[in-house]
Amino acid sequence: MSTRVEQRGGRVSLAGRDFLSLHDFAPEEVSLLVEDALRWKNGQDGRPLVRKNVALLFLKPSTRTRVAFDVAVSDLGGHPVALQGGEVQLARGETVADTARVLSQLVDGVVIRAFAHRDIEEFARFATIPVVNALTDLLHPSQALADLLTLLERFGSLRRLRVTYVGDGNNVCHSLAFAAAKTGMHLRVATPTNFAPDPMVWAAAAEDARSTGAQLELLNDPREAVRGADAVYTDTWVSMGFEPTADARRRALEPYQVSSALLALAAPHVIFMHDLPAHRGEEVTDEVMDGPSSVIFQQAGNRLHAAKAILAAIIA
Ligand code: CP
Ligand code: NVA
Repeated sequence: MSTRVEQRGGRVSLAGRDFLSLHDFAPEEVSLLVEDALRWKNGQDGRPLVRKNVALLFLKPSTRTRVAFDVAVSDLGGHPVALQGGEVQLARGETVADTARVLSQLVDGVVIRAFAHRDIEEFARFATIPVVNALTDLLHPSQALADLLTLLERFGSLRRLRVTYVGDGNNVCHSLAFAAAKTGMHLRVATPTNFAPDPMVWAAAAEDARSTGAQLELLNDPREAVRGADAVYTDTWVSMGFEPTADARRRALEPYQVSSALLALAAPHVIFMHDLPAHRGEEVTDEVMDGPSSVIFQQAGNRLHAAKAILAAIIA
């Protein structure tokens, strides 16, 4: 679908756009979406999706994203059409391109969780309706938007916020890098060299950072990365689809566990973030998950408000 920037009534319009990566959005468009999410959270009224049908196509498991988008479509007055991977003809070999062209005839937008990022890009190329990325192996932008909302609520501003991501340089890390780059945050990412973020993603985020004054730093030492941080973020060491390398990942990532001792190196007001689901005792201890710094359930709740902001902006 379109990647055009339009002005409507003095406000940037994102109508008709795809939401595949935060990289595709200008810094002011990302800010607009975060502010919209905050307005939905604060009780903004409106049913901009009345008479709109939105397919939710989930090709791998999901709790938060699936429920958040389903509830968001309903709350906005639309009708969600939930589809699991095994239920659609994709499972029997219908092509991504044909599926995109067919769904474009039947619904007004589609939210997709896919294995390969290239599949969602191909879907979007052939679809004539807006496509929302609900997670791929490369990116998780709707999570990052909710994370920006959580950080904004806690700190009142995103610019120059010191956020540290520790662990696997995965899809969540990649979208966090774009989120930081678009909003002027200072992001440190600490991973083992073998599990560093994708160099192409990192270069694109670094390019985005140039216009906002964001700082992105890649390290190996989790202790150095966490020092003085306002927020410490981690995610699972074994993302969906990466199970064959689980043992090697657990071995390499063990020194990156977020424990109370690691968190103690951060700022006294530090918050602990995790997109969930967590593997307690692996990437994070129970003590940190359930401790006073943890904002993980607020983060999960914010997925709904971020979903509303995305859908209302691009589909309504
Ligand atoms: N954080 C997240 O995307 O969770 P789900 O896999 O449950 O959707
Ligand atoms: N990195 C994780 C995120 C799950 C929400 C995965 O892709 O499995």
